[in-house]
Amino acid sequence: MNKVQISASILAADFSQLGREIELVMAAGVDWIHFDVMDHHFVPNLSFGSVVCKSLRKAGINAPIDVHLMVEKPEQYIEPFAKAGANLISFHPETTQDIAGCLQHIRSHGMQAGLVLNPDKPLSLIREYLGSIEHILIMSVYPGFGGQSFMEESVDKIREARRLINAINPQIMLGVDGGIKDSNISQVVTAGADFCIIGSGLFHAQNYQEYIEKIRLLIR
Ligand code: DX5
Ligand code: ZN
Repeated sequence: MNKVQISASILAADFSQLGREIELVMAAGVDWIHFDVMDHHFVPNLSFGSVVCKSLRKAGINAPIDVHLMVEKPEQYIEPFAKAGANLISFHPETTQDIAGCLQHIRSHGMQAGLVLNPDKPLSLIREYLGSIEHILIMSVYPGFGGQSFMEESVDKIREARRLINAINPQIMLGVDGGIKDSNISQVVTAGADFCIIGSGLFHAQNYQEYIEKIRLLIR
């Protein structure tokens, strides 16, 4: 089995020194940087857009960036993020009339494409797209804010998603997002996740290096 990938959600980082925060978590052994893009419509919060990605790239940050679009009309964000240097874009299927078109557009730019499911959205919603995505993201909180508690009900859905991926397209990475910490990550990985997003758990830790070392030991 491949190593479990860890993606650091910068929503919980200190924005006054974002570049430095990213360098520190990458040096601590994180694999990806997770960008939570919120438009104040699909979710009740506003965050940041492609300009932040562009600035980080310009500053020489070359960490893989996975963009989680929590927006209406995701089609409008694909081009700007492609130009800004994103590596993976995922969106929620209920936010567009043209899921296949968005996936195709993302992949046409050489980026990986993913679909995200809120806690109340079933896997059947994305089943027909499993041949054209690299990533499924299971939300273990209702999106909009960092620092929420992991919803235990998600564990069954992670298991179900793992079974579906193994049966249909084993190349797909299975991500889980929301409330993941050292206290529950082994449960998430045991259920079948191979891509874990960690926000507040990591950025609120005293020492990023020690925190990631602890996480790696827990999911070995
Ligand atoms: C929730 C976001 C998550 C969140 C994760 O709206 O999509 O990515 O920032 O952060 P924690 O780990 O603090 O729940
Ligand atoms: Zn996210």
